[in-house]
Amino acid sequence: MPLATGLDILQAARAGGYGVGAFNTNNMEITQAILEASEATRSPVLVAVSEGGLKYGGKPLIDMVLAMGREASVPVCLHLDHGSSFESCLRAIRMGFTSVMIDKSHEDEDVNVAETKRVVDAAHAAGVTVEAEIGRLGGVEEHVVVAQEDAILTKPDEAERFMRATGADYLAIACGTSHGANKGKGRPYIDHKRIREIAALLPMPLVMHGASGVPSALVERLNAAGGQLADASGIHEDDVREAVKHGIAKINTDTDLRLALTVAVREVLASKPKEFDPRKILGPARDLMREVITERMQVFASAGKA
Ligand code: G3H
Ligand code: 13P
Ligand code: ZN
Repeated sequence: MPLATGLDILQAARAGGYGVGAFNTNNMEITQAILEASEATRSPVLVAVSEGGLKYGGKPLIDMVLAMGREASVPVCLHLDHGSSFESCLRAIRMGFTSVMIDKSHEDEDVNVAETKRVVDAAHAAGVTVEAEIGRLGGVEEHVVVAQEDAILTKPDEAERFMRATGADYLAIACGTSHGANKGKGRPYIDHKRIREIAALLPMPLVMHGASGVPSALVERLNAAGGQLADASGIHEDDVREAVKHGIAKINTDTDLRLALTVAVREVLASKPKEFDPRKILGPARDLMREVITERMQVFASAGKA
């Protein structure tokens, strides 16, 4: 079936009180893991590609993801993650993406509004829906590190003004999460009151970036197999559940898939030094990513919603 827009999927999620995962892909095995988990759990899903992913895989990656998404029996959206410019969003739209994020959250509010509105007008004319962001997350983004103390949590009144001015369809908010595998010491503090206040002012779907759980079992396996990941921490699944209850409808996950892939590859290479068939190395990675995604779909409560 044709791909769904982000709004098709996320409006139903916000109205139904469940969350939908946006999982980043960069290759065939990751895309298969995402779609297989979606089919197995009957979950709608957003397959996200970042500008880095686009640079890595080019149009062949996008054509493959589009073809695989159209074959699925559940609603699938192809989403541009962290689009940095009008041109980048337009290029994605021309390639067949059905949702784009324009991320000008590091600019002043007036620039963020003007640039977001420009993308919204062009995207809507093409039948594509738009995510925007106000506030600033900490962590690693497009290889730039934003220190936790430089993160700016989204202010409810600014969020309302921003959405009214831009006409964007869903809003990424900063509420205590951050990108990458080091989200702070101990259990990161999620500002649920802030999420509730923003959700009370805005009826549209809200988006949580930097939502990976960074499961300690995976980190331990990674390090036992020769990895060196220190101070790893993620978002507790109870915080994700609570955020969904209050209006978060799209939950971004990339780090957990990177971890799962690397764990499985390291384990195969360590336990089978004679193996050099790529399918025997990447197949187990696909299986472990599918398991991780399946578990997250249960936590988000998107399972059974397609
Ligand atoms: O939020 C960023 C995503 O994890 C994508 O990361 O730009 O390295 O592909 P990337
Ligand atoms: P994680 O680094 O927590 O997986 O977040 C990914 C993300 O927000 C992609 O936009
Ligand atoms: Zn993000």
